[in-house]
Amino acid sequence: MFQAPKGMRDILPEEQIYWEKIRQVVHKIAKSYGFERLDTPILEEEGLFIKGTGLSTDIVQKEMYSFRTKGRDRLVLRPEFTPAFIRAYLEDGLASRPHPLKLYTIGPLFRYERSQKGRYRQHEQANFEVIGENDPVLDAQLIQAFFSIIRGIGFKDIVIQINSIGCRQCRPNYRRKLVAFYNKRKRELCSDCQKRLKQNPLRLLDCKNERCIAATEEAPQTIDNLCPDCHNHFKNILEYLDELEIPYILNPRLVRGLDYYTKMVFEVWPEEEGGRQSALGGGGRYDNLVKTLGGRETSGVGFGMGIDRLVNLMKEKKIKVSGESSPPVFLVQLGELGKKKALKLFEDLRRANIRIASQFSKDTMKEQLKSADKIKAPFALILGQKEALDETVIIRNMESGSQETVPLKKVVKTLKKRIKR
Ligand code: HAM
Repeated sequence: MFQAPKGMRDILPEEQIYWEKIRQVVHKIAKSYGFERLDTPILEEEGLFIKGTGLSTDIVQKEMYSFRTKGRDRLVLRPEFTPAFIRAYLEDGLASRPHPLKLYTIGPLFRYERSQKGRYRQHEQANFEVIGENDPVLDAQLIQAFFSIIRGIGFKDIVIQINSIGCRQCRPNYRRKLVAFYNKRKRELCSDCQKRLKQNPLRLLDCKNERCIAATEEAPQTIDNLCPDCHNHFKNILEYLDELEIPYILNPRLVRGLDYYTKMVFEVWPEEEGGRQSALGGGGRYDNLVKTLGGRETSGVGFGMGIDRLVNLMKEKKIKVSGESSPPVFLVQLGELGKKKALKLFEDLRRANIRIASQFSKDTMKEQLKSADKIKAPFALILGQKEALDETVIIRNMESGSQETVPLKKVVKTLKKRIKR
């Protein structure tokens, strides 16, 4: 027996209502904040993420599904959207459209991670990007859009974790301070962090190892080391969030795992759990990425929201989702001629927008009426040999058991009236 690849899953019919609910909310909120949809291919050039996401990141170091095509190109299953959006922005001439450009998408991403609950090798994200503006008001409104989606799905106690990690001007100085701080505590660090100290010292701040957490207690904080521009930018965002009454926690340990971020970064955690491990989404500003990927100096800010984790949390929190109610009509057919006419009647009813259930492969009246009962259809239409010859059909009220015979030609009109009642 074959199995789905490790870390990948099937989404069963009964789970689809959760996914549909989230997608509906995402599309609605995207529209209301003026985001337009952009879809990019599932495969991209490997170099895009090496350059965009960053060579030292976990994604590029350990998690990409990469392969060589028959034409000898090195491609990957996309591990995130942001570099792909910027590639499209530059390639498709979007840079010449009025700015800021607000774009979003929903789709699958692939990361070869250690699989566990909430961490899958194929996951789905809703991704939002605002390209071409530096104004902190956009950072705040983007966070508001995230928050509106969360609220729209039905979550209440959700808090934003926020930090600023500075820019090219102030980060090198902060980095030096951090390295000097950790160099004195090198022996207390886990082996991963000893490596990170050389390549990406900011990542030491969010290591989960208890020894590293203890060693980080008194580490210098980014917020105390921002240049005036980054400081004002961050202060303004917080003031806008206060104005919008969005609850946030200043989290000096939040650094995010991707190389392109500048200034503001944020994540959204389910309140009582905490921890990056279960983040429902995250994002931030990236004012150098467009240039890194070959464009002009252009700002950007965005977020990715993990739909799989939102679905898990909806189930845990027992968030109500109303599935579509079952069809009001069950079509019962008997005999060869009845089956033929019923097949045609099914089409007539469907085209008239009457939702119908049926079981064409079952032949007895008893079996079919049992199914009609099971889905609690208020009406059954019965079409047997006699009705087929007379060009009629029986409408049965399933609750009272009363029946009326109507001409086939009038059944749509009569049914519509009965359903309305
Ligand atoms: P990210 O933090 O890597 O950011 O992913 C965003 C969200 O996707 C996470 O917070 C989480 O909810 C979900 N996620 C990530 N990996 C997995 C996984 N293996 N299984 C389940 N869910 C997962 C980005 O991808 C950035 N591109 C976001 C961004 C957009 N920044 C600026 N613009």
